[in-house]
Amino acid sequence: MTDQTSTPEGHDPAGRVRIFDTTLRDGEQSPGISLSTPEKAEIATQLARLGVDVIEAGFPITSPGDFESVQAIARQVEGPVICGLARTSAQDIDAAWNAIRESERPRIHTFISTSDIHIRHQLRTTYEDVKGQARAAVAHARGYTDDVEFSPMDATRADVEFTAEVVQIAIDEGATTINVPDTVGYTMPAEYAAMFGELYRLVPDLRGVTLSVHCHNDLGLAVANSLAGVEAGARQVECAVNGIGERAGNASLEEVVMLLRTRAASLGLDTGITTQEIARTSRLVSRLTGYVVQPNKAVVGRNAFAHESGIHQDGVLKERTTYEIMDATTIGLERNDIVLGKHSGRHALRKALEELGFAVEGPALNTAFKRFKELADKKKHVTALDLEALVSDEMRQSPAAYVLESFEVEASSERAPLARVRVSLPGDRVVEGSFTGDGPVDAFFSAINAATGHEARLKEYHVSAVTGGRDALGEVTVLLELEGALASGQGVSTDILEASGRAYLRALAGALADASPAVQAERHLADAEVEAVVETPTP
Ligand code: KIV
Ligand code: ZN
Repeated sequence: MTDQTSTPEGHDPAGRVRIFDTTLRDGEQSPGISLSTPEKAEIATQLARLGVDVIEAGFPITSPGDFESVQAIARQVEGPVICGLARTSAQDIDAAWNAIRESERPRIHTFISTSDIHIRHQLRTTYEDVKGQARAAVAHARGYTDDVEFSPMDATRADVEFTAEVVQIAIDEGATTINVPDTVGYTMPAEYAAMFGELYRLVPDLRGVTLSVHCHNDLGLAVANSLAGVEAGARQVECAVNGIGERAGNASLEEVVMLLRTRAASLGLDTGITTQEIARTSRLVSRLTGYVVQPNKAVVGRNAFAHESGIHQDGVLKERTTYEIMDATTIGLERNDIVLGKHSGRHALRKALEELGFAVEGPALNTAFKRFKELADKKKHVTALDLEALVSDEMRQSPAAYVLESFEVEASSERAPLARVRVSLPGDRVVEGSFTGDGPVDAFFSAINAATGHEARLKEYHVSAVTGGRDALGEVTVLLELEGALASGQGVSTDILEASGRAYLRALAGALADASPAVQAERHLADAEVEAVVETPTP
């Protein structure tokens, strides 16, 4: 049962706001993101280290892959509540339960729309049926666990009285958290707060459950709306790292957390987040999803603590708080504490990795050491950020990967660049290819297509430096399309071309996995089963 009740009047000075992270569910629904089970488990482990209260690990009915990753997280990740999403059908709820049941703290999150638009055009059903489905779903979920969350989807465009009726039913059936989503990012802070006031009036029992906000960012108001909901009494915020999620994304976790912390004196609220883990979590999610963080992004953008104007620089040098409302160390942005050099040995590397939270042993340590030595030969000081990038790069090397064995790129201002590559495929087969292109990167990617026999199309290409300096590691992110499947990949190296090749091959392997007939058939089957029960696509 919930141990946190919300209060509509005033704020509990010791108010604790729960952070419900949906990076792996709503966040993973962003186009081009396709995380493998180990990658999702890695993110979930980091979310636990960050101290989130709830991890929404996925939507188990949607595909066997989603089921498997939610189950893996439920088995491996300790600390937070592990939540699985389900529509109101018994099949959805059974799948969610089967995926999360081995967690120490399982939660089922079930939802159905209460807006007229959705009920008429999407569900094509009646208001009475929606009430019946909500009742049956919560009751069914409560048969499995006493931690059940219910969401009236698209609530901010719905008739509040009807939403209140459905919410009352969900509470009567035993829902312990009521989440009020702004599904399409339509509401405004004052309107959202007023809606909470109205819900409290119409459903006094809301005082006995945790009230939650879930805001999308279509009009750039997700965090502002979440704050309005919290000020109106909500004590759970649903959000995603780097603000990823459907369309314009969800409320950004780091912004919500740092807002509550920075303005704690006014709000009287805080979270249980270990803020020093924020920057690292943001980097990990960005690397694994391929979603680059915009430089001016609040809290975690690379310019969030940079001062360009002379007046600002002068002020900060004299006293940091003249132009900074947060301290970079509070979110773990400054990791200059670990520095290794070319004479550092295996033991020093292992210790540094341990301090960074990576338990690397045996062959993985040998590989990490080899890459560290290669880097230390080129770069005077290897920092924590370098190590983190290298180890994450290695950890993403799956056994079924396409590996860049060697490459050669000839580029000059006189003729079209020519690239030659050797790539090893799963099963130890090595293929070769060569191609010319408009530029060296274009030639390189075309040569990989020629070698592997795939016509992948590059959609996006980003390169950034892991640290400052001319000898910095380069990190490349690639988004490509293959037979309608979008996939991203990342690569890290001091050589930008090598990083590009690694990133491209990872994206290619991801797109192939997504486009494979087996995966398509599985998805089709799962979708058909779900559609037979409820005519609702994924939220
Ligand atoms: O945006 C939404 O309404 C959702 C629900 C499933 C909570 O993601
Ligand atoms: Zn959502």
